This record gives sequence, C-alpha cells and structure tokens, in this order.
Amino acid sequence: MQTTIAVLEGDGIGPEIVREAVKVLRAIERKYQHTFVLEEAPFGAGAYFTEGAAFPARTQAVCDAAEVILKGPVGLAVDRMAAIPQAERPEIAAILPLRQRYDTFANFRPVRLPATLAAFSPLRPEVLGPGLDILMIRELVGGIYFGAKTEGPETGMAFARDDCTYTAPQVRRVARVAFEEAARRGSPLVNIHKANVLATSRFWNALVEEVGRDFPEVSCRSMLVDNAAFQLVTNPSQFNGVMLLENMQGDILTDQAGGVVGSLGLMPSACIGPDKSYVEPAHGSAPDIAGQDSANPFSMIGSAALLLERCLGLAEEARDVWEALFAVFEAGYVTREFVGRSGMGRQCLGTAAFGDRVVGRILKDRN
Ligand code: IPM
Ligand code: MN
Repeated sequence: MQTTIAVLEGDGIGPEIVREAVKVLRAIERKYQHTFVLEEAPFGAGAYFTEGAAFPARTQAVCDAAEVILKGPVGLAVDRMAAIPQAERPEIAAILPLRQRYDTFANFRPVRLPATLAAFSPLRPEVLGPGLDILMIRELVGGIYFGAKTEGPETGMAFARDDCTYTAPQVRRVARVAFEEAARRGSPLVNIHKANVLATSRFWNALVEEVGRDFPEVSCRSMLVDNAAFQLVTNPSQFNGVMLLENMQGDILTDQAGGVVGSLGLMPSACIGPDKSYVEPAHGSAPDIAGQDSANPFSMIGSAALLLERCLGLAEEARDVWEALFAVFEAGYVTREFVGRSGMGRQCLGTAAFGDRVVGRILKDRN
C-alpha cells in the first residue's frame, strides 16, 4: 500500500517520541513492502512562535492532503505558555480545531496491562487482578468542550459559563461505534454517565439504550462516572471490554486509567472521523524531561499501531507493533519513569534504544 501520512511532531518530548514512532513505521514499511510518504508540518506552541499560529494554514493544507495524521503531544513549560495569548494556546488554537476540522468524534484509548507487567501499576497485584484490557471510547467533538463560552470582561467578571450540549446524531454515532466494537470483541460494554444530575447524561443514556437494541448480543450496563472513578482503582478488571464515555468524563477517566497502568506514557490513542483520522498519545508534552532521551515512547509507538489498525486497516502490521512493544517490556526493559518502582529490577533504556528494541523485534525474522 502507498499512503501519505502527515507528521506533526509537536512540542516538548514530541520530536523524540515521534522519531521512534516513525522508525517503527519505517520497519513496517520494509517488512510488508508498503510505501509511507511522510509529510512533516509544524503544530503546537513551537509553531505559534515560529509561524505565528499553533495550527498554521500550511499545516492544515498538509493534513488535508494526507490520508492520516500522526500527531505528537503539544505545549511548552508554563512560563513559555504564559507568553501566548489564551486564544492562541495550542489546546484552544490547535488540538480542538484539529478535532473539529476532521470531526474526529470517536477517540479510542486502549488501556492494556498484562498480568506479567503488574509491577508497572501502583495497585497491588491482587487488586489489579488478571490484567487489564479495556478499550475506552470517548466522544471527542461534543459536550462542554465545544459549547458556547462566556467569560471575562463581557460578564463584568460576575460569572463564567460553559454550555454542554449533545445532539441525538452525536450520541448515536459514538454509541454505535462502541456497540460495534464490543460486538466484534465479544466483550461487555459499560456506559459511563452522570444522569442523576445532568440532562445531557439522561439524554445520552436514552440514546445509548436505543442504539443497544440493535446489538442484543452485547451485554451493556451503565455506571455513574463518580462510581466508575472509584471502581477503576478498586476493581479495574471488571471493565475489561469496552467503556463508552462522553468528552469531559472521558478526558478525566482516561487519565485515571493511565494512573492505574502506572504511566500516561502507556496511553496511546486514535481519533476517528468519518473521512479522516489522526492519532496522538493521550498525554502532554512533558517539557521538564524533553531532550533527555528518557521519555517512554510506548504511547507514541502505540499510536502508530492504532494508525495502522484503525486508520489504514492493516491489522497484521498493527499486531506486530503491539507484540513488539509488550515483548520489549516482558524481556525486562523499561524507560526511566519505571526505574526504582518496587518489584522492578529491570534494565533502563533511553527513548531511542527502546524504539530500536521494538524495531529489532518487528524485523527479527528477517536478515
Ligand atoms: C487529551 C488532552 C486534551 C483534552 C487537551 C490537551 C485539550 O487532555 O487529549 O486528553 O482535554 O482533550
Ligand atoms: Mn486529557
């Protein structure tokens, strides 16, 4: 296959972890005789300083022309961010516009930790149970993130307001994706909500129930988001399967899931739209450790695996990448964040060396 991939390396640790993801894509290209044409473009806080915009017009053009987008984390240290006007900061001026531009409504955030790697988690092995394999599906272009906002001088600093709206088509389409996924995996679905307080959650639940009628084979239960936060750290493996979350609740619980598996560096994601999709790690750009060759590239390489799997339909290639990623950990290697955690007498690798091991594993049967 020949395909064009826009590469937005972002800020902070972005360039160094994106480099490893690209290495892995090159290995897949070689092993399976694909051609990936990579088009780099500036995006994020750095782009604001060099181009005058966090999502410059020329980057938009590169993304429009590409089949799929590989995006690194964005954002700089607090003092540099403070020099950017609020409305120009990368969250507001780059990430949300990117999601909106391609209507990437379904955000896949897999949370996986085999029992063999239980020591990564801050939870005791008996709490962690048999290992985690949860697919969190977060609605990504609706709800309070995209509602009207009122703040600042126009309210005389008397109040501020964020509107939260969901339309029926918005809820139905992401619910359908979650049910399809649960049906495909033959696993249960847990729908997360706050229907005891929020009208949008009651509406959400009614539509989830309606869509669920088309999937009698999927066992679906609903759980209040606050209870789910509690259950995630007391009995996480009950969620093995698919979880469906609206935008804001999904933002929070997916970070919590990163805590449960021991690091946000283990949280890749794919943002799927009707015509175009992009992938990104679920975490920020960790400017405090940028340039030290110590960041964990798992989330970025995992995002490349999701790109193969979810965006290009290359299931076997994606499986190779996942297997290689877990095999490197299982062979006893870790990146710096895990060093010194109890029960882990493991060998520490830098970011690039970790990527090299993953590549070595993918190409191991070849000479
Ligand atoms: C995420 C991030 C973003 C979000 C921010 C950076 C806008 O936290 O992808 O989870 O809140 O969606
Ligand atoms: Mn987040």
